[in-house]
Amino acid sequence: MSHFKTPFFIGKCELPNNIFYAPLAGCSDFPFRKMSSKYHPGLMFCEMVKMDALVRHDQNTFHMLDYDKEMHPIAGQLCGSKPELAGKAARIIEELGFDTVDLNCGCPVDKVTKDGSGSGMLKHPELIGEVLANMVAAVRIPVTVKIRAGWDETQINAPQITQIAEQAGAAAICIHGRTRKQAYKGPANWDYIKACKAVARTIKVIGNGDVLDGPSAQRMFEYTGCDAVLVARGTMGHPWVVEDIIKHLLGQDVGERSLEERRQVLMEHFLHTLEYHHARRVAVDMRRVGCWYFKKSAGTRSFRDAISRADHPDVVKELILNFPVESLDTATVDESEDNCEQEC
Ligand SMILES: Cc1cc2nc3c(=O)[nH]c(=O)nc-3n(C[C@H](O)[C@H](O)[C@H](O)COP(=O)(O)O)c2cc1C
Repeated sequence: MSHFKTPFFIGKCELPNNIFYAPLAGCSDFPFRKMSSKYHPGLMFCEMVKMDALVRHDQNTFHMLDYDKEMHPIAGQLCGSKPELAGKAARIIEELGFDTVDLNCGCPVDKVTKDGSGSGMLKHPELIGEVLANMVAAVRIPVTVKIRAGWDETQINAPQITQIAEQAGAAAICIHGRTRKQAYKGPANWDYIKACKAVARTIKVIGNGDVLDGPSAQRMFEYTGCDAVLVARGTMGHPWVVEDIIKHLLGQDVGERSLEERRQVLMEHFLHTLEYHHARRVAVDMRRVGCWYFKKSAGTRSFRDAISRADHPDVVKELILNFPVESLDTATVDESEDNCEQEC
């Protein structure tokens, strides 16, 4: 039996498949989503936005939620801990035309957790239930929640939160199998996701953490019994990863993308970025985006070094146009460190 589901439902929302692209603050912006949408993930998340900023109509926050019709199905994600704001913020997401709305209970960053938001919510499972119930009461679109396994290894409460979320009316829960304390380090522990699936009755369980390609997606489905998978870092520089995962789940051959294909997709990503952001931002963003596409490809070190110093879109364009595809050997892997920022 294939784990690939088409269509796949979250509540009443019909999605084309059960392979999702994660929210990535500072990364999954309009150009990133434009590039990703070409490959049709089942659901694509925007970067998280703060509930209070949305409710006070902060323009920059609205800007982060820009999308176009090709990006459907699209999910908005809210970060905040105040039940009284949650319903209003969820309604704004619905009015903007989003297909689903999610509550972030996973962000590990101190400046987010210090007011009890993000993974700070894991310390107050009942509050998660209250916030979700207010969101559910305010909107018709499905409400979902994204959590971590727990605050630290001694406080694993993902299964308890799964039950609370289900009672609050959430249609799906995504579990990132790391604790807050782990941040992004070390492997995700899929046992916690399996434990959530074991207690879930109606709520859909989305497995997240270390799904990078077809084989890891298949292992996640098999090991945890989850209903869908969410790919995060595996989408960076691989906007096509959903295609690879689906092919693998269907038992089809998944070919390597050649350097020339990667170069062309990077050029497209660059052009979307150029259309959307101002010149300085384009250069800064492309320093890391350019590296993503050729991470670990042998012989691309000098390209990555050069693009990670680019100070103008013209420089970026020249580098991509002159990328020495012919002279490179794609078979070997370059594990050496370089100047590229690994994350956002
Ligand atoms: C740069 C970066 C930004 C992230 N931003 C968000 C976010 O806005 N909301 C969220 O719920 N998770 C966020 N995450 C967490 C990812 O969605 C995901 O849960 C995590 O990276 C684990 O999945 P992975 O092992 O496939 O990368 C972020 C992760 C990274 C690396």
